[in-house]
Amino acid sequence: MQVHNFEKVWLGAALLLIVGFIATISYGTVGAGIAMVDDSGGQIDPQAVQSGETGTTFDDPGVVKQNDSHYVVYVVAQQFQFVPGSGDNPIQVPANTLVTFKVTSADVMHGFAITGTNINTMVIPGQVAEVTARFDETGTYGLVCHEYCGAGHHTMGGSVEVVPQSQYNATEVTN
Ligand code: CUA
Repeated sequence: MQVHNFEKVWLGAALLLIVGFIATISYGTVGAGIAMVDDSGGQIDPQAVQSGETGTTFDDPGVVKQNDSHYVVYVVAQQFQFVPGSGDNPIQVPANTLVTFKVTSADVMHGFAITGTNINTMVIPGQVAEVTARFDETGTYGLVCHEYCGAGHHTMGGSVEVVPQSQYNATEVTN
């Protein structure tokens, strides 16, 4: 069978496009560290979170040191603040260590995003959202709620202070 040269060029271009599309989709699926919100962090009774009777660290949320290279930050989101995180109670974590954020809601759905990073999750009442990250650069990062959660939604924010590891250990406060 004789295939016209002009047709061969278009066949080649079409194949290239298909390969390109598949590569783009594959990268978006696994390459950029994007994952669906799931219940891997476990479930929790939002009413108990509200009254501080979960019997877990969420009753007194804050930073818990697992070891020198892993910290877990427990955060309660509620109308209209992050505890810790909002107001004069920023979240403090060391740079260049693994930091796992465990976030849950005491009332309605909230968002939890740290500006300038790919940390971004929904906070669903009844579930614990879990995100692990490593901050390479010290400084103050903004914390924002990105799910409409009521009349004060636009005021719901806070900050994350990333300090050098040596300095962090020197001033370390338990919870
Ligand atoms: Cu909380 Cu919007």
